[in-house]
Amino acid sequence: MGDMETTFVMIKPDGVQRGLVSDIIGRFENKGLRLVGLRQLKPSHELAETHYAVHSERPFYSGLIEFITSGPVVAMAWTGIGAITVARNLIGPTDGKEAPPGTIRGDFSMDIGHNVIHGSDGPETARFELELWFPDGLVDWVRDTEIHIYE
Ligand code: RTP
Ligand code: MG
Repeated sequence: MGDMETTFVMIKPDGVQRGLVSDIIGRFENKGLRLVGLRQLKPSHELAETHYAVHSERPFYSGLIEFITSGPVVAMAWTGIGAITVARNLIGPTDGKEAPPGTIRGDFSMDIGHNVIHGSDGPETARFELELWFPDGLVDWVRDTEIHIYE
């Protein structure tokens, strides 16, 4: 068994506008992850720029910031064994055209920019993003069903 981890996941403005929130949350719940943080907000430019600072020199950066600040997002924190990789696998590759069916981007996205959802790409990124989006902390609880989810 791997380590218990918490990852940051965000439904982007296209996913919220298209009414995909319940389907996406359902996929993470059904998989067996534990929801420990949930908030809807319209991100400020400052928040979006901090979140995507690693991409600040990329040609798509200004368009990405405009997109992420264009409407409400749903920010989430999910806990589970290997949760960072598990979430990235549920999400699928960046470009929706190439993402396999069964993944969120494979099922709902046709685009590299409007790709519905974000997930942290490693433990350090997850720590940074959780602190950024959930400065008041997360909810400390355990799903009763985890005795059936893990051996
Ligand atoms: P994310 O960070 O949103 O979970 O996506 P990712 O790891 O799969 O992809 P990343 O390389 O981190 O890129 C961050 C986001 O920037 C937008 N992007 N646009 N137009 C382009 O060429 C381009 N490339 C990336 C996407 O919205 C991507 O999710
Ligand atoms: Mg990324």
